[in-house]
Amino acid sequence: MCEDLKILKQGAEAKLYICNYLGRPTLIKERFEKKYRQPELDTAITKERIKNEARAIVRCKTAGVKTPSLYLVDFDRRRIYMQHFEDSITIKDFIINVFKKHEQNGSGDGLNSLDKVSVLIGQTVRKLHDNNIIHGDLTTSNMLLVQKNENVDEHDAKWLQIENLELVMIDFGLSFIDSSTEDKGVDLYVLERALISTHNDYPDIFTKILNAYKSYSKNNVKEIISKFEEVRARGRKRTMVG
Ligand SMILES: Nc1ncnc2c1ncn2[C@@H]1O[C@H](COP(=O)(O)OP(=O)(O)O)[C@@H](O)[C@H]1O
Ligand SMILES: [Mg+2]
Repeated sequence: MCEDLKILKQGAEAKLYICNYLGRPTLIKERFEKKYRQPELDTAITKERIKNEARAIVRCKTAGVKTPSLYLVDFDRRRIYMQHFEDSITIKDFIINVFKKHEQNGSGDGLNSLDKVSVLIGQTVRKLHDNNIIHGDLTTSNMLLVQKNENVDEHDAKWLQIENLELVMIDFGLSFIDSSTEDKGVDLYVLERALISTHNDYPDIFTKILNAYKSYSKNNVKEIISKFEEVRARGRKRTMVG
């Protein structure tokens, strides 16, 4: 069914394989057993995660958020088959690269592309929330940049120019559908925490993302932001107490 299965990476939850499935570059995400969990519970949790991932991918289509295409779900083997973006970079690596280049040659145009990435992130999260999709694990490792124009390859000078890239959202295992402002606020808080720990050399990024998030559409934005601030204040209190 699948040719040339190769392991790509092993994460905390899943093994990722790449292969050729029906002539298309495919990524298989196989969630492995957690031995510390009771087996029936483990199976149920895994099935739930796979369902969440598949459901969100379908829903993102209507929301206008780009994700990998879903090819196949195999519950027995705990696998989901999806489109593999061979020439992609995570936003995490993109940001780290821009900073590296900036340090090496002091060029300012890279920093300009960070502003554009922040806007892309803010708009995309907003589109998810406007469609009541809560991602559940918003980090810059779960956002890819891919070429808009498929004719540009990795060796072309145009590769990695932000104007030619679009955001692909991935890793929807913890996602769910909810219309509450509270859950949207929590989603933003998760993103803020992730940014603080991953991109501490770029402290403005979250503010920039939030500005783009606020201005992209107007649905309930005030309530969502005040919920977000409430959640953040609770989080602070918790860390102070220890
Ligand atoms: N469809 C895809 N195309 C290209 N790379 C991908 C794709 N899906 C995942 N990746 C890469 O694999 C990494 C881990 O995948 P992810 O779905 O986030 O699983 P995990 O649960 O291990 O975080 C991502 O950060 C990204 O680098
Ligand atoms: Mg991930």
